[in-house]
Amino acid sequence: MSSNTVTALILAAGAGTRMKSDKPKVVHRVLDVPMIQLVIAAAEEAGCERILTIVGHKQEQVRSVLADSVECVHQPEQKGTADAVVVATDALKDSTGYLLVMCGDMPLLRPETLRQLIDVCRNRSMAVLTAQVDNPSGYGRIVRDGTGSIAAIVEDKDASPSELAINEINTGIYCFALEELFERLAKIDSNNAQGEYYLTDMVKVCHAEGESVMGLQLAEAEEAHGVNSRVQLAQAGQILQKRINERWMEKGVSIVAPEMTWISPDCELEHDVEILPNTTIAKGSTVKRGSILGPNTRIYGANIGEDCSIEESIVHDSCMGDRCTIGPYSYIRPEVELGNDVRVGPSVEVKKSKVGDGSKVPHLSYIGDATLGEKVNIGAGTITCNYDGEKKSHTTIEDAAFIGSDTMLVAPLTIGKGSVTAAGSTISNDVPDDSLALARAPQVNKDGWVKKKREAK
Ligand code: UD1
Ligand code: CA
Repeated sequence: MSSNTVTALILAAGAGTRMKSDKPKVVHRVLDVPMIQLVIAAAEEAGCERILTIVGHKQEQVRSVLADSVECVHQPEQKGTADAVVVATDALKDSTGYLLVMCGDMPLLRPETLRQLIDVCRNRSMAVLTAQVDNPSGYGRIVRDGTGSIAAIVEDKDASPSELAINEINTGIYCFALEELFERLAKIDSNNAQGEYYLTDMVKVCHAEGESVMGLQLAEAEEAHGVNSRVQLAQAGQILQKRINERWMEKGVSIVAPEMTWISPDCELEHDVEILPNTTIAKGSTVKRGSILGPNTRIYGANIGEDCSIEESIVHDSCMGDRCTIGPYSYIRPEVELGNDVRVGPSVEVKKSKVGDGSKVPHLSYIGDATLGEKVNIGAGTITCNYDGEKKSHTTIEDAAFIGSDTMLVAPLTIGKGSVTAAGSTISNDVPDDSLALARAPQVNKDGWVKKKREAK
């Protein structure tokens, strides 16, 4: 009769005071992703069909990092974790199946673990994710009965000395059958050391009804690592970094210095990618086989083709084809599209431009708001003068054009196919196809001028 649908409820109303931050805790980033997004991704991968988030403290900032598909319910006053579920009563009134309750500050939970917890809860009222830890202080303790099921969860502040000695803790992740959940929540009171409505008291309520509560103990306690402070935020980053790097190495990516390589969870790499030290790959970047990134390189929102090399450079919200060579010391700013076999750098900046196959922009140039055809060669120190102080203008450089070193290209401007600009020219008029444009003062030599001056002294 009961459906197998699972809804995730993510508790994220808390202030997170120990972060000492103007931002709510769950928007702080772990490997460049707001931690609540990592929690939501795990719930989605575990098969949750609907995601509800309980927001409170600085809710606008929390909502701003959530996808539209995530529903938010506001908890006006934080009266405890049971109250945080109660405020979702209306939102869940037509839901059946199971409710997976998670905390927004636990970014390391694996989807497999959540799936297992849901399985443990099948045909039961409640299941709890637990962990065995060396130092249980601060956590709720798991009190097991003779049969191995959970008799109670006792909060640290309410625990007796013998309960304090228990090393199995409540991670704060639960699965509940939705049927009768809200009737049971109504039985929870706030008669405890903190005067809060504890969700953990659901164990007692279930017991009183003769329902056994099962626990699933984590094999790796670090999965339940919660972020309450900046130190724990950094630790979460390190754990996730290691986990992601090992996953890519298993898939055939070489990582020379894993502790100096940061790959966000939303990025994709193909086999035979090689990553040199101090490299960051973030914001949904993708890298195809055979490409070498680093050292000292940062790509975010970048799509990199096969067999590219990006050395000591930054690529930001841009894409490139195969066999491109970037750097060293180059900056590819947003909206750049490079074809195949393109060279950019050393020491070049490119912005909002398209560069065709086989074109080269080496040595100290700035290319902005431009379209370059195929096999264009840009001489050292060339600048597209795209901004007149008021507006940006476009430069078009057609196939096989050869731009001499130190050319100023004053946009708007078109350089025709196969044309050449003389080194040191300031080009402000269009150049037709297959022509030479010369725009510099003719040279004057004054024979013996220096010698005469010297002798006059
Ligand atoms: C809770 C558990 C404890 C467990 C620990 C694991 C209870 C009573 N205790 O304790 O057994 O070991 O988590 O970390 O549940 N929240 C709301 N609204 C509220 C209260 C809390 O959204 O009214 C959110 C918080 O933002 C936080 C989470 O729920 O993300 C946990 O709340 P918190 O008060 O930190 O519980 P703990 O004392 O850590
Ligand atoms: Ca907590």
